[in-house]
Amino acid sequence: MRIPGRDSHGVTRRGGGPGTGMTWKALPAMYLALCALLGSACGAPFNQVSPVITMEQLLWVSGRVIGAVDTYRIPLITYTPRGHLLAFSEARKYSSSDLGAKFIATRRSHDGGYTWSATSFIVDDGTSPDGLNLGAVVVDDETKNVFLIYTLCAHYHQCSTSSIMITNSSDDGLTWSSPRNLSREVGTTMFSPGPGYGIQKKFSPSKGRLIVCGHGTLNEDGVFCLLSDDHGMHWRKGGKLQGLPFKQAKKMGDFTPDECQPYELPDGSVIVNARNQYFYHCRCRIVVTSFDGCDSLPLENVYFDEGLPDPAVAAGALYKGGMVFFTNPANPTQRVNLTLRWSFDSGDSWQQNLIQIWPGPSGYSSLTSLSGRIEDHENIYVIYEKGRKDITESIAFVKINLYGNL
Ligand SMILES: *[C@@H]1O[C@H](CO)[C@@H](O)[C@H](O)[C@H]1NC(C)=O
Ligand SMILES: *[C@@H]1O[C@H](CO)[C@@H](O)[C@H](O)[C@H]1NC(C)=O
Ligand SMILES: *[C@@H]1O[C@H](CO)[C@@H](O)[C@H](O)[C@H]1NC(C)=O
Repeated sequence: MRIPGRDSHGVTRRGGGPGTGMTWKALPAMYLALCALLGSACGAPFNQVSPVITMEQLLWVSGRVIGAVDTYRIPLITYTPRGHLLAFSEARKYSSSDLGAKFIATRRSHDGGYTWSATSFIVDDGTSPDGLNLGAVVVDDETKNVFLIYTLCAHYHQCSTSSIMITNSSDDGLTWSSPRNLSREVGTTMFSPGPGYGIQKKFSPSKGRLIVCGHGTLNEDGVFCLLSDDHGMHWRKGGKLQGLPFKQAKKMGDFTPDECQPYELPDGSVIVNARNQYFYHCRCRIVVTSFDGCDSLPLENVYFDEGLPDPAVAAGALYKGGMVFFTNPANPTQRVNLTLRWSFDSGDSWQQNLIQIWPGPSGYSSLTSLSGRIEDHENIYVIYEKGRKDITESIAFVKINLYGNL
């Protein structure tokens, strides 16, 4: 397999925010006021970026202390159409295992993460031996619908058919529709979305399209996306980045793109940042670029990002205001050291002044941000699995101010 340099094969540096030659002399407050006027066209004043954690709190704690749930895992976070935050997790009823019965737990915040509603359980799979797997949340900014997609029977454990389920909320996550079986439409090939968020294309091609990326079973693994061009009424399978060798159990060193997070750049390309399950080429992230709204994920657009060391985990990625943000446990072998990195050149390189969010056990993470108010340009939000001895102990929420050291 060829491993092209990004610049040599048409995956060129994508002009996201202001060029590096640009200097920002304006005071941040003036700059941010200008941003509010310009809206999403606004880039970040790069030389003033200095992220600082300004708040952290635990949203869920494992150990049968919240709703008698054994373990909370797989955190998701999103903004809502009305500018609020919504967090989700798998509430594993009886054990910490990926198998077994679960609820989907959710909490909402109307004040940028300072206070949160009590936990609601919005989906219950009963006593299923291979219950639900989260999942991806995707906001349709045009119709103000929030979709949540999850999988039943992802591991074929005492069950034979895997189903992709979807539920939606038109009131910012307060109430949810009864789940619809998407497998009637897209088939029963196992698809485990995310974990993370799906996107709505903001730029052409395929502006308005909803894209939810995920992965298949380990044998037939590979990343693929579900696409909807009619605001979530109908869905179909997009392009696939197939694992190698095809349809065969994988071994250490095989190419096995797995859990993934897409984001869109202002040139309309979609970057999918994926877990490199068996460490093909490196103990780092697999990155694939789609130029057609995920109708294809071409092998020749695959890049191994040595700047993102990774122990094989679900990571967070977000484009905001000319910058790309990335969170993972930044260690090649262990799930420890949850770290935030940022890039001023669309993810081609990462700034060296990263911040360590938590040195100890840390696992899956996801990112979001709000837009609309002036202060929303300054903050991003992280949700992640956090523990002292084990990543399964709790799910933490972190607010980060991007200009904190000013
Ligand atoms: C959202 O859920 C409602 C209630 O079940 C349903 O009528 C509607 O079709 C759903 N919308 C989409 C886009 O799936
Ligand atoms: C979902 O639909 C598929 C395809 O029709 C079916 O095989 C599967 O049993 C359904 N799953 C559920 C949970 O109803
Ligand atoms: C954690 O990350 C920091 C910053 O990259 C690095 O210096 C340190 O060695 C890492 N520690 C572990 C245990 O991964």
